[in-house]
Amino acid sequence: MHKHPTEAPQKAPPPPPSPAAHDTKKLIPSQGARYVTLLYPLIFFFLFITILVSSLNYETVPWNFFPFPSAKPSNSRVAICLVGGARRFELTGPSIFEHVLNVFPEADLFVHSNLDENSFKLGLLRLAPRVTEMRIRRPVMLPETQLQKRVLTKSFSPNGIQGLLQYFDLVEGCLDMIREQESQGRFKYDWIVRTRVDGYWTGPLDLEAFKPGSYVVPEGCRFGGLNDRLGIGDRNASEAALSRLSLLPRLDEAGFRDLDSETAFRAQLIVSNIPPVELRFPFCILSDRQYDYPPGRFGVPVTSMGSPGPLSGAKCRPCTVVCKGECMAEVGPRVNEMWGWTEWRNGSMELCNGSQPWEEGWEKIFDNVAGKVAAIVRRRVKNMKFDECVKEMDGLRRKVERWNGPDSAEICNLALSNTQSRTRKLPV
Ligand SMILES: *[C@@H]1O[C@H](CO)[C@@H](O)[C@H](O)[C@H]1NC(C)=O
Ligand SMILES: *[C@@H]1O[C@H](CO)[C@@H](O)[C@H](O)[C@H]1NC(C)=O
Ligand SMILES: *[C@@H]1O[C@H](CO)[C@@H](O)[C@H](O)[C@H]1NC(C)=O
Repeated sequence: MHKHPTEAPQKAPPPPPSPAAHDTKKLIPSQGARYVTLLYPLIFFFLFITILVSSLNYETVPWNFFPFPSAKPSNSRVAICLVGGARRFELTGPSIFEHVLNVFPEADLFVHSNLDENSFKLGLLRLAPRVTEMRIRRPVMLPETQLQKRVLTKSFSPNGIQGLLQYFDLVEGCLDMIREQESQGRFKYDWIVRTRVDGYWTGPLDLEAFKPGSYVVPEGCRFGGLNDRLGIGDRNASEAALSRLSLLPRLDEAGFRDLDSETAFRAQLIVSNIPPVELRFPFCILSDRQYDYPPGRFGVPVTSMGSPGPLSGAKCRPCTVVCKGECMAEVGPRVNEMWGWTEWRNGSMELCNGSQPWEEGWEKIFDNVAGKVAAIVRRRVKNMKFDECVKEMDGLRRKVERWNGPDSAEICNLALSNTQSRTRKLPV
């Protein structure tokens, strides 16, 4: 049977991006200590801004007040892929800024998402350190080939293999964007971070996750394969990990059948000789889906987004906790190790009863857990008007290097023509 190799063939691994102090080098050109004097006005300027900002009422603060970056990449080049629907991006966005994008402010960001009534929330990205390309594509049915039907299974996915193909296409599209950027600039990225629009982060993406020659994924939620909710790898490993559609013929040749997302992902790494490494990461997938409570052997635990964590990519929502501590010691061991399992033993995980839609009053729970800035963003997006939305999308479009999507008015119209805001008078 297929086995993971323990070691990858490895040539000249790219150095992991380090939280280097390269910024000072930029401020102080090599030949002059006299430039140091230039720093003083700068420092005073920052102090002034800081005092100005903190003296304002929180509600009037420009809500793009995100914490300053805590680390900067070294000279290795990092690409970040952000893929998936923007359904709850007003809730996850601020956490992605703080713990992923601002940690690697020099990384190039590539976004791939389907056009729907939530796409306008991606306007938040105008505050990202940089956005290289955005693709917001109109949903289309993808053709299903005999080969795909043979290799993939329609169980587990709400829309059969079409759902899988759509998801794979979103992920692989990111690799296409990256290749295009590379061929235009005649360089290769050293690292690719693949993450999801619906990821809610509670701590920074750790530099430990950059391991040459292997592909790093979150521990737990394997569903018989490998957790595919986040991935970090060097250029070579990422090529294998992100080639979700184009590797299917290789999987077919190797005799793989009836794969779902997680088992296909594992198979991809096997045929490519890339060893996976599982680490725990401080994020969860903010999900509206409902799952039986308590979770059974092959169930999916719905965790509280306020759990101490790290939740390592488990499903989560804002909720009143129904199970922790002793209760977890009872429920935890019931979930199968190779299935929906996530580490619960040291109090990191608290559960919601996820059998119903999000509870009444979840907003308050979210605001308490996520903090002031996130609460401001949440309210702002909720109350957004058409012209504000257009202004924001226009801002984003000016910022991105390559925009691949409909114009702002179309995106905002889609959003604000739903029932909740139909009553609003919209300028056309
Ligand atoms: C890149 O990955 C392939 C498998 O996809 C492997 O055979 C090759 O040795 C790797 N090259 C480097 C430089 O790591
Ligand atoms: C649980 O253990 C993990 C891994 O050792 C650690 O990172 C985490 O902080 C712990 N969580 C709690 C709540 O103690
Ligand atoms: C979970 O919630 C459902 C719906 O509110 C309820 O019927 C059920 O009893 C709850 N389960 C437990 C174990 O509390």
